[in-house]
Amino acid sequence: MLATDALWFSYQDAPTLKGLTLDFSRQSVSGLIGANGCGKSTLFMNLSGILRPQQGAVLWQGKPLDYSKRGLLALRQQVATVFQDPDQQIFYTDIDSDIAFALRNIGVPAADIARRIDDALTLVDAQSFRHQPIQCLSHGQKKRVAIAGALVLQAKYLLLDEPTAGLDPSGRAQMIDIIQRIVAQGNHVVISSHDIDLIYEVCDAVYVLRRGELLVEGTPGEVFAQKTHLEQAGLTQPWLVKLHTELGMPLCKSEAELYARMRVKHIQEAS
Ligand SMILES: Nc1ncnc2c1ncn2[C@@H]1O[C@H](COP(=O)(O)OP(=O)(O)OP(=O)(O)O)[C@@H](O)[C@H]1O
Ligand SMILES: [Mg+2]
Repeated sequence: MLATDALWFSYQDAPTLKGLTLDFSRQSVSGLIGANGCGKSTLFMNLSGILRPQQGAVLWQGKPLDYSKRGLLALRQQVATVFQDPDQQIFYTDIDSDIAFALRNIGVPAADIARRIDDALTLVDAQSFRHQPIQCLSHGQKKRVAIAGALVLQAKYLLLDEPTAGLDPSGRAQMIDIIQRIVAQGNHVVISSHDIDLIYEVCDAVYVLRRGELLVEGTPGEVFAQKTHLEQAGLTQPWLVKLHTELGMPLCKSEAELYARMRVKHIQEAS
């Protein structure tokens, strides 16, 4: 179980996170949305034990997080994070060593390390630039390496901070695929993103943050129907929800579902 209980966090005097109580174990994919600076990345850093709340707690397996070296190592075997900025997460100059580092740290045998790295790099489509020095990669390529670095851990929880920022359309589609695969294996994903359409499509529950506070929570259908709350949080509705609210079209979860339903409608009208 990964959750927060009345969590308050401040960098300096003014609080950045204000009494957040969130339970990420209740659903497979949780989405965190909110305007720039509302505290999403700060929350991720609290969840991964990099930052420590001044009040309240991060709960891991039902207990307040153990911040000792051993406790954090145990947490990081089960909770893997892809940070917003790939440079924050990549330490080595070559890709294989960088990804292998975390696996060696948790005692994975050498033969398994090679296989796991190979699988993860294939999954994020990074084999073609695998042997280039990391400093020569583009932002999107680095992001793919950072995602591979988290996937190899095969953790129970994967925290993705802006995973599609900087990815091209095929990278974004692969990300959706990866999330669905991870969920099918019984794991959990927490995703923060400004890609509101992505959040709508992949999440089972959505949390809207506004200046460090929880403004609304619920299923994507419930949350995205609340236009006024979304505007207060500096957000807009996903395009599929807009088609529904503005034009009365059926509420669909994905572009593919919308096209399928419209095709059936056209066939029915034509016959
Ligand atoms: N290291 C830091 N020291 C002091 N203040 C910080 C630090 N990092 C972030 N902040 C402040 O904390 C607040 C929340 O920042 P955070 O990065 O968590 O927001 P965010 O929701 O992830 O934003 P974005 O959508 O731009 O990624 C902002 O006001 C930011 O200026
Ligand atoms: Mg952020």
